[in-house]
Amino acid sequence: QHQSTQSLSLSGKRVLITAGPTREKIDPVRYFTNPSSGKMGFALARQAAALGADTTLIAGPVDLDTPRGVNRVDVVTAQDMYEQVLSRYDASDLVIKSAAVADYRPKQVFDQKMKKSPGDYTVEMERTHDILQELGERKRHQYLIGFAAETQDLEYYGEQKLVKKNLDAIVMNNIAEQGSGFSTDTNASVYLAKDGKRVDWPLMSKDELAANILQMASEALVGEES
Ligand code: CTP
Ligand code: CA
Repeated sequence: QHQSTQSLSLSGKRVLITAGPTREKIDPVRYFTNPSSGKMGFALARQAAALGADTTLIAGPVDLDTPRGVNRVDVVTAQDMYEQVLSRYDASDLVIKSAAVADYRPKQVFDQKMKKSPGDYTVEMERTHDILQELGERKRHQYLIGFAAETQDLEYYGEQKLVKKNLDAIVMNNIAEQGSGFSTDTNASVYLAKDGKRVDWPLMSKDELAANILQMASEALVGEES
């Protein structure tokens, strides 16, 4: 089948995207989170909808407008995100997990505001679900793309995640690099597919990066059909 460099349509495809941080409460006035802006996932959802996909965006707490034509579901915790993603997984053709999900949450959550007392305080944390890992384990027809945020040994850790989580492709970002990261408007990335196909993308806007990621994904989806 002929594949041009222009964007392929995602019409008739169901695309599921996650975005933003999660928030893990310890008491009514305190929580653990990270600086993810959600911009990458929102850009991906905007682009997927523009390509004609039936697009659902599972969004952590972020201050962003819902892209046109996107079905948005707001969540707060990693557990909420896990439930919302898993319940839509079977019906999805393409899943892109750009959310910065908390790896741990406080083991005990207090109903009342904690009062301070002299001396140190230690918070015991427990693991959340690794959503992407579980999606990889349950994968059937879906094309599954993950992200890797690293501050060192980008390609080593990124490739490990691609294999361990049974992904079809991974987008690796060195978040220690100037202009790349959780809350920036731009990213420099390496895209690696499980068949070994690899692209190095220079620093570009998250909108441009989203277009490139969906280009790779739609080529792969069309390739699977032909
Ligand atoms: N991810 C997820 N659920 C989690 C943690 C991560 O779905 N509880 C997903 C992220 O959305 C991302 C990918 O896994 O697509 C990689 O996230 P990252 O934080 O880079 O890697 P981890 O596997 O969490 O490993 P570590 O933080 O130790 O590097
Ligand atoms: Ca993590």
